[in-house]
Amino acid sequence: MLKILTVVGARPQFIKAAAVSRAIRETEGLSEVMVHTGQHFDSNMSAVFFEELGIPEPQHHLDIHSGGHGDMTGRMLMAVEPILIEEKPDWVVVYGDTNSTLAGSLAASKLHIPVAHVEAGLRSFNRRMPEEINRLVTDHLSTLQFCPTTTAVANLAAEGIRKGVHHVGDVMYDATLFAIKRAAESSNLLSNLGLEPNGYALATVHRAENTNTPGQLRSVIEFLQEKAQRRPVVLPLHPRTGQAASRMGIRLDGLQVIDPVGYLDMAKLLHHAAAVYTDSGGLQKEAYFHRVPCVTLRDETEWTETIAHGWNKLWKGPDYAARGEISEYGNGRAAFMIADLLKAASVTA
Ligand code: UD1
Ligand code: UDP
Repeated sequence: MLKILTVVGARPQFIKAAAVSRAIRETEGLSEVMVHTGQHFDSNMSAVFFEELGIPEPQHHLDIHSGGHGDMTGRMLMAVEPILIEEKPDWVVVYGDTNSTLAGSLAASKLHIPVAHVEAGLRSFNRRMPEEINRLVTDHLSTLQFCPTTTAVANLAAEGIRKGVHHVGDVMYDATLFAIKRAAESSNLLSNLGLEPNGYALATVHRAENTNTPGQLRSVIEFLQEKAQRRPVVLPLHPRTGQAASRMGIRLDGLQVIDPVGYLDMAKLLHHAAAVYTDSGGLQKEAYFHRVPCVTLRDETEWTETIAHGWNKLWKGPDYAARGEISEYGNGRAAFMIADLLKAASVTA
């Protein structure tokens, strides 16, 4: 039996890991141990995803969150290392580009445990983003790189990474397929919020580049407030943004601000939105999965195919391109491809 140790800690990682964890459970010869770093800890940022998406309770919970990058990542490194020594996994699997990703990949590679990176190869080419640093380092430390897009494969090739690279599609598409039917049946959020299908826009904001300075946060909020004059803008508020806005005295008047919601409520909100305004990586693609046009509140994006196929535009960039389908993201079986590839790579190792 091959032992896979998964390191997660932040909201988007629970969603991605839910799909892969399910595939691992359904693949003979694989077992999983999960470490939750604790990076995200409010129940609506963490526990709700474990419950709704059927993720088994993590075996290790580190309860490490907040503080600066060095502080948080350093504490995670110190806590993950002894777990790896104790568990002796065959693979460490990490997701995306958070500080939890970096801590997991650094700790494992120093112990010579092979790392597999889900959502490898994404690049914004903006090294001022903490996420860009985390994903660059993780990709270069990984033995297997599971890419969601062909652009990601090309980005890795440009950095000399060719061995172990697989284009598997996007595990978030797997997650969307899982949620969409359940959300239709279970979520009453629209009527609870008094929203009409196709009569509102959905917004999320949390990136450091948008929340660290008052000028930038103010211009993002003003953009949303202007849009809200046309139709309601629902803003499930990330704790980082809530903290920044109150610290900076920035008012969110005119926006329909709600607490962060679970994945099924989010699928419902996305499915019936007329437009999405976001700086989230995940939401840019989910907007396409639900066939809703997106405006990305950033100056660049890693998900360039959403722009090329007319479903997304940068808020200060050119208008939407001609609209077309995106084939890159796979057929909803990315997680099963990952489980099979982990198994196959272990046999040939
Ligand atoms: C992190 C990731 C980012 C990812 C995002 C997903 C890094 C560097 N950044 O950003 O790549 O897109 O998660 O949402 O890893 N907080 C709470 N309750 C929570 C979670 C966070 O109050 O449940 C507070 C923290 O105390 C902190 C702030 O929010 O003050 C930011 O949290 P942090 O995990 O440092 O970064 P995110 O902005 O969430
Ligand atoms: N999401 C959610 N509830 C919310 C906001 C976001 O379930 O209130 C989901 C969203 O649908 C997507 C993921 O969280 O699947 C994106 O996470 P986030 O924006 O925090 O991080 P990013 O994708 O930018 O790393």
